[in-house]
Amino acid sequence: MEIQWFPGHMAKTRRKMQESIALVDLVVEVVDARIPYSSKNPYLDELWARRPRIIAMNKADLADPVCSADWARWYQNQGFGTVMIDALHGKGIRQIEPLALELCGDKLQRERERGREGRRLRLMVTGIPNVGKSTVINRLSGRAEAARTGNKPGVTRAEQWIRLGSQTELLDTPGILWPKFEDPEVGVRIACIGSIQDDILDIYTLSVKFLDLVRPRYASLLQERYRLTDEELSLTAEELHEAIGARRGFKLSGGRIDWERTSRMLLDEFRSGKIGRMTLELPPEAFPGKEEAGHAAQDDRGTDPEIS
Ligand code: G4P
Repeated sequence: MEIQWFPGHMAKTRRKMQESIALVDLVVEVVDARIPYSSKNPYLDELWARRPRIIAMNKADLADPVCSADWARWYQNQGFGTVMIDALHGKGIRQIEPLALELCGDKLQRERERGREGRRLRLMVTGIPNVGKSTVINRLSGRAEAARTGNKPGVTRAEQWIRLGSQTELLDTPGILWPKFEDPEVGVRIACIGSIQDDILDIYTLSVKFLDLVRPRYASLLQERYRLTDEELSLTAEELHEAIGARRGFKLSGGRIDWERTSRMLLDEFRSGKIGRMTLELPPEAFPGKEEAGHAAQDDRGTDPEIS
């Protein structure tokens, strides 16, 4: 989270990623299920094109399950393996290894035919900061302590492999990718989930944008959480923000609404799932007429599948 992506840092990260990726058969790219497009780094698409990859949609416990199913279909149609996981509670993690073996089945078969028996499949976990890479590594490896995210100053350490099942092993250090900032809307969504520092935008602007993003699809969740009237729900996002602050009694002396406190509360409650399970963007199929992935979630449907 504290990483500053100045060019020198980016070049070093890129180099490290290239070195690590050369050691593995399959990459597990962890994305945040609330923003499966915005939290995905296109650099990996260049570096790892047409090679086996699993998109692990993590924090699925916080995302809208219907949208997660749409996103899983979207990525599967593009040739990725997908799993929906909640690494915090260990849900869905067990699907990763068999899927990796399935996706690399042909390669292993070819190697067996050339007489190379018994080799373990090598995996690594990558993703932008805060998507849950370390939590995924710890869950996969059954370890309680935090995955090491880098060498300590002054200490050099070789990469280590953690044995998973009988056929696979995992690089113990995650590959860190940088978020894509070129599209400002992507930056807003990454900021909403708390994966970049809040000072990218001022907190008030961010929380108003958050309301604009979620209101079309999740009006009823907002209404329920903040006991809003139908009239309040149809106000501008700024007025809605004010109404929410007033409902919570966040007032300054003189009766003005405390915008900053309201903003922090809204973003905190979204990030911790208190408002409900929300996804901030949908794939194009779920939204006819749009070509690009990554537009805001906008329709209103029921709920369905759960993470298994
Ligand atoms: P990273 O290595 O990709 O940077 O992420 P890390 O595993 O450190 O996880 C970042 C935060 O996300 C952690 O919270 C972690 O507990 C939480 N997290 C990981 N997976 C899940 C998940 O599936 N569901 C939910 N709800 N949370 C998950 P934290 O330590 O409290 O950090 P922070 O939230 O203060 O950043």
